[in-house]
Amino acid sequence: MRSDRKLLNAVLLGLTACLLLCGQENRLERGRTFLGLAPPPDPAAAARGEKIFVQNCAFCHGQDARGAEGPNLIRSATVLHDEKGETLGPVLRRGFPDKGMPAFSQLTDEQSYDIASFLHARVEAAANRYGYKLQNIVTGDANAGKTYFAANCQSCHSATGDLAHVGSKYEPADLQAKFLYPGDSAAPLTATVTLPTGENVTGVLKRIDDFQISITDETGAYRSWQTDAVKYVINDPLLGHQRLLAKYTDSDMHNILAYLVTLK
Ligand code: HEC
Ligand code: HEC
Repeated sequence: MRSDRKLLNAVLLGLTACLLLCGQENRLERGRTFLGLAPPPDPAAAARGEKIFVQNCAFCHGQDARGAEGPNLIRSATVLHDEKGETLGPVLRRGFPDKGMPAFSQLTDEQSYDIASFLHARVEAAANRYGYKLQNIVTGDANAGKTYFAANCQSCHSATGDLAHVGSKYEPADLQAKFLYPGDSAAPLTATVTLPTGENVTGVLKRIDDFQISITDETGAYRSWQTDAVKYVINDPLLGHQRLLAKYTDSDMHNILAYLVTLK
């Protein structure tokens, strides 16, 4: 998925033009693209997957997969990178026996596909917030937005620094897009891999899955490692926005915007 970033950026650039002109459906589509989601999940498979999930997984991951004893699966990289159970299946069959998740070694490919469809449907439901209306957008509570900003945005931004006057710089709808949608910076994702020798190699991320990470290094050479043999950090400048997206309520979004427009 990550390796398709260039293509994704091209698609997003095209869609940016349509942000304010096109309707709800395109916004949903953009949301899906931003979250890196595959085409909409198959509803019949998702319904079968829900049954398997409720019986086998909900105890630890919550009925809605938002996490309990086990982690939230709607924000899980394993789930987001998966399309049809091909990434999820092996992870489930292996489990995390040393960390409290049993191995589901009997799981068939069909069952993995069904569970994956259910989880993608849950992610989709979270992405549906893109459908929320842009009309009358400055209806939030600026004070609540200020509090939210201090808690969630200030680690990267400052109201008197980089975001000073942002309320004069952009129209409200554009301003909202700035924190809800990806930027149109076409810079590719990069990653820094730390080898067992301690050497760091930074380059453009080509591929990442549970087993392998590949980059092209500064000399343009393609290099690849087993993920369990190295440490790595993926440098996505907008990862902060992407993470927050899963957390906002509609009123959070309204409140943040109401606050940002006061930064004249
Ligand atoms: C007994 C508790 C338990 C059960 C049952 C369980 N899990 Fe887990 N699961 C965990 C724990 C704990 C982790 C975190 C492991 C770690 O820290 O790396 C986890 C991790 C995961 C991950 C990886 C999340 C990530 O970091 O990307 C996925 C995906 C997952 N579980 C899916 C499932 C599914 C689907 C089922 C049912 C078929 C299931 N789990 C059943 C406890 C459980
Ligand atoms: C982990 C870091 C991080 C967090 C957390 C974060 N942002 Fe950002 N934000 C960025 C980066 C990086 C950019 C610049 C993207 C670019 O230049 O393309 C940015 C850009 C923006 C911009 C556009 C600024 C401009 O002048 O064009 C706005 C507005 C914004 N963020 C608002 C927010 C708000 C509101 C929050 C909290 C709800 C938030 N951000 C949380 C990293 C973060």
